[in-house]
Amino acid sequence: MRGRFITLEGIDGAGKSTHLGALSKRLRAGAAGVVCTREPGGTNLAERLRELVLHAPMDGLCESLLVFAARRDHLLNTIEPALARGDTVLCDRFTDASFAYQGAGRGVDWELLSQLERWVQGGRQPDLTFWFDIAPELAAVRRAQARDADRFEQQDVHFFSRVRDGYQRRIAAAPDRYVTLDAGASSRAVWSQIEAALKARGW
Ligand code: TYD
Repeated sequence: MRGRFITLEGIDGAGKSTHLGALSKRLRAGAAGVVCTREPGGTNLAERLRELVLHAPMDGLCESLLVFAARRDHLLNTIEPALARGDTVLCDRFTDASFAYQGAGRGVDWELLSQLERWVQGGRQPDLTFWFDIAPELAAVRRAQARDADRFEQQDVHFFSRVRDGYQRRIAAAPDRYVTLDAGASSRAVWSQIEAALKARGW
C-alpha cells in the first residue's frame, strides 16, 4: 500500500518546527516507517540549493526555479521511493510554500507557478497538510526571539501578511487537503488540535 504524504506549512514563526519531532514520533507509533524531511532540501543536491535560496540575493523567479528544481530532486530520490515502500512521508513545507512566498510574497505569476507544479509533480499532492495559521504580528514577535534570520525571516510584517494570504488562496482552492491549526494558541493546545485531526482520520 502506498504511504501517506503529510506536509506542514505556515509563515515563519508559526511554530511548525516545535511540533515536527512529536508528530513524527506519533506517526511512527502507527505506521511501518516514517521519513521526516524538509523543503527546500531533503537530498544532497536539494540541500545545496536550499543554501543558495536562503542566503544568496536573487529575484522571485530565480527563487521559484531553484525551489522547484530542489523539489524535483527531492521527489525523485526521497519522497516517491518512500511512498512506494509504504512509508509515511512527513515534510516540513512543500509546494504551498512556493505559492505563498514566491507567488504572494514576491509577486511571481500564479499561473507560472502552477505550470512548474505540473511539470515537477505531475499529479502528486500531499494527502494532508497542517496549516499553522497565526497573525503575522504575533509571528514577528516569535521570530524576534530566534537568532540568525535568513533572507525570508528578515522580511517585514507586510511581506508575511501577503504570504499568509497566499496560503489562504491555496486552501480555498482545495480545502479538503488542509487542517487549519490555530497556531497563536499555546503549544499544548496546538498539539491537541494535531492529535484530534489524526484521530479523526483513524491514523
Ligand atoms: P523554514 O522551513 O522556516 O526552516 P527553518 O525553520 O530552518 O528556518 O525555512 C525555509 C524558508 O524557505 C522559509 O522562510 C520559506 C522558504 N521557502 C520558500 O520561499 N519557497 C519554498 O518553496 C519553500 C519550500 C520554502
